[in-house]
Amino acid sequence: MSISVYVTRRIPDEGLALLREHCDAVEVHAGEGPPSRRDLLTGVKGRDGLLCLLSDRIDAEVFDTAGPQLRAVANYAVGYDNIDVAEATRRRIPVSNTPGVLTETTGDLAWALMFAAARRVVEGDRMVRSGGWGGWGPMQLLGVDVWGSTLGVVGGGRIGAAVARRAAGFRMEVLYCDPRPCPELEAECGARRLPLDELLGEADFVSLHVPLTDETRHMIGARELRLMKRTAVLVNTSRGPVIDEAALADALRDGRIFAAGLDVYEREPALAPGLADLGNVVLLPHLGSATGRTRGRMARMAAGGLLAMLRSECPPNCVNPEVLGGRR
Ligand code: DGY
Repeated sequence: MSISVYVTRRIPDEGLALLREHCDAVEVHAGEGPPSRRDLLTGVKGRDGLLCLLSDRIDAEVFDTAGPQLRAVANYAVGYDNIDVAEATRRRIPVSNTPGVLTETTGDLAWALMFAAARRVVEGDRMVRSGGWGGWGPMQLLGVDVWGSTLGVVGGGRIGAAVARRAAGFRMEVLYCDPRPCPELEAECGARRLPLDELLGEADFVSLHVPLTDETRHMIGARELRLMKRTAVLVNTSRGPVIDEAALADALRDGRIFAAGLDVYEREPALAPGLADLGNVVLLPHLGSATGRTRGRMARMAAGGLLAMLRSECPPNCVNPEVLGGRR
């Protein structure tokens, strides 16, 4: 049987080569940006498999347009809030993601943001480059200490745990918040589990590592920001809508928290009005998993998952395994 797949953007060759080895047709959306909605719908028509990105909204319209032969969707990301998985499951289409391979790389980036925001790295860089630096100053760009402070990790899953493990090197106390206790996190990092409000009140650094769901949307809003210390730093490498970005911009402008480091945004690539004008926020373009090695691993995993599901096998990274007779 001939197999045709659509890939919504160029991904590292490791993944494309695997697809080309096993499929009869592999069409990759050309161009640097994401496909327009119309291009996506045209591209997916008549395909057996779809390899998509976190920037593609995959919903009933996409499934309808693809046609009934569509039998696998692989997301090139660990987060899969861009896919209507309930709808896919209803249509018995399996969906996979890329867990594990990007954990440590994303953990590194959360720390990069913590340091950059706490020690005003970007402001310092700008000052030096602009020629505005008049020499060493005793009161210049004073930041807050990372070492010896308290880290609050919101979401004790893989990436949250990777971030927490790194804290030992900076002699930090670790708090975490999760609907379920994480005994490994507690044993390995001495982490203490607290309700969110208490964690926000105690932590010097709050790092978000929750998936985007109806429960976590705007989990951090004006009320939560008011619970944080005025010297605290908030970091988000999870999904933008977890924070009410307009409320964060207000809190940063009013000095209600010290700084923030963001890799993700509510309406990517748009920013909340005024956010980009603030000096006390470090803004990255969703780089969490962006190293050559990790993106290569993600590409292999996404392609491998897609091929397995096309063979009606259930890969370990299938998020709705019940469709293939597997268990969650
Ligand atoms: C993911 O995989 O969900 C990340 O956000 C990609 O960098």
